[in-house]
Amino acid sequence: MSNQKQTPFQEGFLWGGATAANQLEGAYTEGGKGLNVSDVLPGGKVRLKVLADPGFDFELDYEKYTYPNHTGIDFYNRYKEDIALFAEMGFKAYRMSIAWTRIFPNGDELTPNEEGLVFYDRVFDELHKHGIEPVVTLSHYEMPLHLVKEYGGWRSREVVTFFERYARVLFNRYQNKVKYWMTFNEINSGLMMPILGLGFSVQTESDRYQPTFQAYHHQFVASALAVKACHEIIPSAQIGCMIVYAPTYSVDCNPENVMHALQEERIFNYFCGDVQVRGEYPAFIKPYFKKHGIELDIQPGDLELLKEHTVDYIAFSYYMSRTEKKEKTPEEIGQGNMIGGVKNPFLQASDWGWEIDPVGLRISLNQLYDRYQKPLFIVENGLGAYDKVEEDGSIEDDYRINYLREHIQAIGEAIEDGVELMGYTSWGCIDLVSASTGEMSKRYGYIYVDKHDDGSGTLDRKKKKSFYWYKKVIATNGSDLDQLQPINNK
Ligand code: BG6
Repeated sequence: MSNQKQTPFQEGFLWGGATAANQLEGAYTEGGKGLNVSDVLPGGKVRLKVLADPGFDFELDYEKYTYPNHTGIDFYNRYKEDIALFAEMGFKAYRMSIAWTRIFPNGDELTPNEEGLVFYDRVFDELHKHGIEPVVTLSHYEMPLHLVKEYGGWRSREVVTFFERYARVLFNRYQNKVKYWMTFNEINSGLMMPILGLGFSVQTESDRYQPTFQAYHHQFVASALAVKACHEIIPSAQIGCMIVYAPTYSVDCNPENVMHALQEERIFNYFCGDVQVRGEYPAFIKPYFKKHGIELDIQPGDLELLKEHTVDYIAFSYYMSRTEKKEKTPEEIGQGNMIGGVKNPFLQASDWGWEIDPVGLRISLNQLYDRYQKPLFIVENGLGAYDKVEEDGSIEDDYRINYLREHIQAIGEAIEDGVELMGYTSWGCIDLVSASTGEMSKRYGYIYVDKHDDGSGTLDRKKKKSFYWYKKVIATNGSDLDQLQPINNK
């Protein structure tokens, strides 16, 4: 029976999927591309250790590791086939990122690499041929390795100039092709994974504070300069920030725990957004800076720049909520999600321990809209799961459909609550390399890619059951979220 309910989603709602260049393009040295930070991250769960390793040297070590991002899923050569599949699902939007090192292989050159620019011209043209709007992240975990090694990543003020140059090249080149932009992917994730987000590893406990927040200041200035450039060069475009949002619950109603949850949430969920959306450092960060001995080097004009060039919308990723407790017993530590906290007894977790919480998405949308009153855009959400190809070639990913249905229902409820939402691009619409674990077996896609953790596979694409389901969701503008009848499965 199809759901007869009227849809809460407005006409023109941007349904689609999301990816990042480093996780799917492959072709890591083709077309003049330089190495970036994700190119030196190993495949497999060892990546989690490397990301937390204070001594990581950003060197390739083929004796010890494999590097799945080098080949990705070969989108670089197969983008036409993949975009045709997105079009078949009815995508209105496709969130993607540009590999900074395809455009500036080292990051500090004065002139861009034409071959890299041409590649994205082709991708955008192909998307438009199918009526799909590109939504583009300027930097998604792909800082040029040269900037990491020679400049110390975002700790260096010089990187701001390189980033602004890169952003201006993109806005000039693609001004007639791209209307939706974002500056830094999950900017607040640098607090958890500085290697990916800030381009340096935290060597000592004191690195965690002064260098980290100085690097953030540089990213905020770079983001404001990019917003300024975007508005100047493409006045009709919209440019957003992008944060990872995890609503933070207190484990109980003990006021001590509630206060602790609030403090954790402010730093992780709100610090970056407050600067990029409101244009100033929030009051709560000042005592935090004082406590940790942080004194930012703020140059004349920086604060005015931040104030004048705030973002047009708030894009965010949502995978899980977080539950906090002030005093954790040794058994409780590490029992929460990747982003911390303790186990939530009301929630089930994915095979990777990420707690599944659709209501948390409704809460997130309400909290973000209450705080900022600017349009929101969910640019990542989804379930990383093991998929099995049946003997007849089908992939029955009902678990993924169930996850997505519950989350999309929650989004509909948030829209009914009054939230203004531009679109929904679920993460990894085609299977790709996992960012945190470098695995292929952690799959998010509607489209299966025949590639495995050991690098084997034909790279052939296959439609999963969720492909047909999402196609129906888009075709009905979110009014029919029901499971498919078996006949449509293959
Ligand atoms: C987000 C990132 O953190 O989550 C993506 O922006 C990433 O790059 C996604 O792939 C899912 O995480 P993972 O570790 O399962 O790939």
